[in-house]
Amino acid sequence: MPETSTTTSQPMTSAPNRAEAAAVTRLVLTNFRNYTSLKMNIAAAPVVLTGENGAGKTNLLEAVSFLSPGRGLRRAKLPDVTRRGRDQSRGLWAVAATLQDQTGKTDIGTGLEPVSAESDAEPSTRRVVHIDGVPARSANVLADISVVGWLTPQMDRLFIEGASARRRFLDRLVYGFDTGHARRVSAYEKALRERARLLRSGQRDLAWLSALENTMAEHGIAVAAARRDAVLRLGAAMDDGFGLAGENFPRAEVRADGVVEDWLAVHPAVEVESRFLDALKASRDQDAASGGAKTGPHRSDMAVVHGPKSMPANQCSTGEQKALLIAIILADARLQAARLGRAPILLLDEVAAHLDDTRRAALFEELIEIGGQAWLTGTDAALFKPLRNKAQFITVSQGEIAVAA
Ligand SMILES: Nc1ncnc2c1ncn2[C@@H]1O[C@H](COP(=O)(O)OP(=O)(O)O)[C@@H](O)[C@H]1O
Ligand SMILES: [Mg+2]
Repeated sequence: MPETSTTTSQPMTSAPNRAEAAAVTRLVLTNFRNYTSLKMNIAAAPVVLTGENGAGKTNLLEAVSFLSPGRGLRRAKLPDVTRRGRDQSRGLWAVAATLQDQTGKTDIGTGLEPVSAESDAEPSTRRVVHIDGVPARSANVLADISVVGWLTPQMDRLFIEGASARRRFLDRLVYGFDTGHARRVSAYEKALRERARLLRSGQRDLAWLSALENTMAEHGIAVAAARRDAVLRLGAAMDDGFGLAGENFPRAEVRADGVVEDWLAVHPAVEVESRFLDALKASRDQDAASGGAKTGPHRSDMAVVHGPKSMPANQCSTGEQKALLIAIILADARLQAARLGRAPILLLDEVAAHLDDTRRAALFEELIEIGGQAWLTGTDAALFKPLRNKAQFITVSQGEIAVAA
């Protein structure tokens, strides 16, 4: 990959190790959204996808997002991902990919599989994940193999809408540094749901209730602590400047906002754990009525302030909110590259179109500098001109792709 020059040199975040970044080098889609069947071989360099509205650009990013824990960048209901079409030669959706980094290649396969239905119930499906051909317990194991981050037009409302999307965004920032985070969040939420069910049922099996609350406390403290670590790291990176992005995008002050996170700021973890257990115990009756849990990291939020303006993100202009998100994503990617020696794969859907020329150029240069594989989409190929010779240009049209000469 050609070298690009930068004008900054920051002590902590300056040395991304581009060689070790993981990249998708093969992607195969089957019955995935508007793709009947697609095979692409790609290099580690950035990928630019251009094409008309509805061509299938975001669908391709979504496919890549399924190479990480969770429900992908659309948070789709998984059966909706299966291709709908008039020709009925169909099966369930599948994504196969090869991820390559310095240590070698890993094959990932994921998709829906039929679950043999009992008697004449509706046939159902479940998500499966295979790593090098071996079935994995859950999609959470993908956190060990790949880190994928994204920015989509839907996220333009991230600071306006409910806390859950911001919480997920924050959790995704943690994955690179803490590969067990996704698993812990799932385990916490599972215990939370089981506790709610038990409380609702009205049977007070106290031993079972305590066991579930202990599980919640154990994982919940770890989850909250990991979020705190992530925002502290990010804050330090933002203060240090963050490469070209730091010169062109606003410094974002990011905070993990939650009761357990606040306790962790002033008390040792063991004490926080007993406080949390007490809180759970005290709210059993209330939680039985409400169906959730009054306290816990499942209610936390990510609070963001536009640093230069001291303005809460939800009161910033749409463009400023977008710039804050870009700043966070890029600072985090640079941090991962510098500290962990591996940059995440970044999926930037329709991001370039909303930036002025200077910021767009800075974004591109920063992506090259960070060194991870970036996937960028847009309707207008001309916007990506600064990436000529540095990226792979692919045109997308009605579920087919063509590699530009
Ligand atoms: N399950 C599905 N089966 C078939 N087509 C689908 C499915 N889900 C979405 N699509 C279609 O995929 C097309 C491309 O979507 P998208 O990737 O979002 O386009 P864009 O290139 O604008 O990002 C849309 O026309 C949409 O209707
Ligand atoms: Mg799109």
